[in-house]
Amino acid sequence: MTILITGGSGFIGFNFIKLWQSKNNEKIINIDKKKYSIAKKRNLSNNSNLITYNINVANTNKISKILKKYNPRLVIHFAAESHVDKSLNKPSFFIKNNCYDSSKFLNLIFNYWKNNEIINKNKFRFINISTDEVYGHLNPKDPPFNETTNINPRNPYSVSKSSFDLLCNSYFYAYNFPVITTHCTNNFGKYQSKDKLIPLVIKKAINFKKIPVYGDGQQIRDWLFVKDHCFAILKIIKKGIPGNKYNIGGNNEIKNIDLVILICKILDKLIYKKKVKNFDELITFVKDRPGHDQRYSINSTKIKKELNWESKSNFKKSLISTIKWYIKN
Ligand SMILES: NC(=O)c1ccc[n+]([C@@H]2O[C@H](COP(=O)([O-])OP(=O)(O)OC[C@H]3O[C@@H](n4cnc5c(N)ncnc54)[C@H](O)[C@@H]3O)[C@@H](O)[C@H]2O)c1
Repeated sequence: MTILITGGSGFIGFNFIKLWQSKNNEKIINIDKKKYSIAKKRNLSNNSNLITYNINVANTNKISKILKKYNPRLVIHFAAESHVDKSLNKPSFFIKNNCYDSSKFLNLIFNYWKNNEIINKNKFRFINISTDEVYGHLNPKDPPFNETTNINPRNPYSVSKSSFDLLCNSYFYAYNFPVITTHCTNNFGKYQSKDKLIPLVIKKAINFKKIPVYGDGQQIRDWLFVKDHCFAILKIIKKGIPGNKYNIGGNNEIKNIDLVILICKILDKLIYKKKVKNFDELITFVKDRPGHDQRYSINSTKIKKELNWESKSNFKKSLISTIKWYIKN
């Protein structure tokens, strides 16, 4: 048996591959447009249970052939451009990549599911990995987002993600295509792109460069350890109900500035030879991102009750292990 994932050379997809391979012998087909994937660098492509194709999800000709060859029983769609700042500069590119290109992929997988005689149609799933950002933003005292919260995306990235979520819903309602959509909070852990907050702060600090913090740093995010997120996806594969959404949160709300200070304090204990007394001396407030959402917070009661998943990792311990990994790598 085989599963197909997209975006497996990125941060969450790659962590998912690692977790999957530690638990299964089932082959993974990874479709990712990135040429020099982390997977290749780490020799995971040589593993007979992982085959990476460096193509765009919109390449329906090539993907049709891949589907014919491997007959995957499940698809997990991680692939997306995921940087909010970049989306503010290139909105059309984000809409094209995350919505239009993904729509071609969705339609291809739908036709594969409809016409395939080999796979078990009832057990097939298309898992769409979305974000909490589709719900918009919260004020500090608002209750967290749940699965019935109206969407209210406020930047081109979250607009592109929520548009694709709606398209996925339409395939469920129109054709009973077994789509499940997840909405997770900010992930952290190994292999994340260096331009995301936690790796960026570590990189700047250990190179004794200024650590930029947007605006007054009062924005609140809920941090989810990527391994916990990947375990949630495993639960959804096993027990998730088609047509449902699942929110996946970490229960670790923290202001950006407090997170940056915490990272600096951890680094103070890990790195002795340094050009500054304390790393937080490097913190510099910079002009805020336009339309910067104040707070995201997720209510994960549904996935806890229905699928028996909850985020298990201790935030500080996972953060320390993540920081140690970045220092080493
Ligand atoms: N990282 C987070 O904190 C977070 C939070 C909520 C939701 N998400 C969602 O999770 C998914 C994975 O995020 P990530 O952090 O791993 O991002 P990432 O940028 O590290 O990885 C995304 C991968 O998708 C690939 N990709 C993008 N567009 C593609 C296309 N058209 N065809 C083929 N490959 C394509 C990229 O090459 C990259 O390897 C995304 O859908 C993102 O919206 C991420």
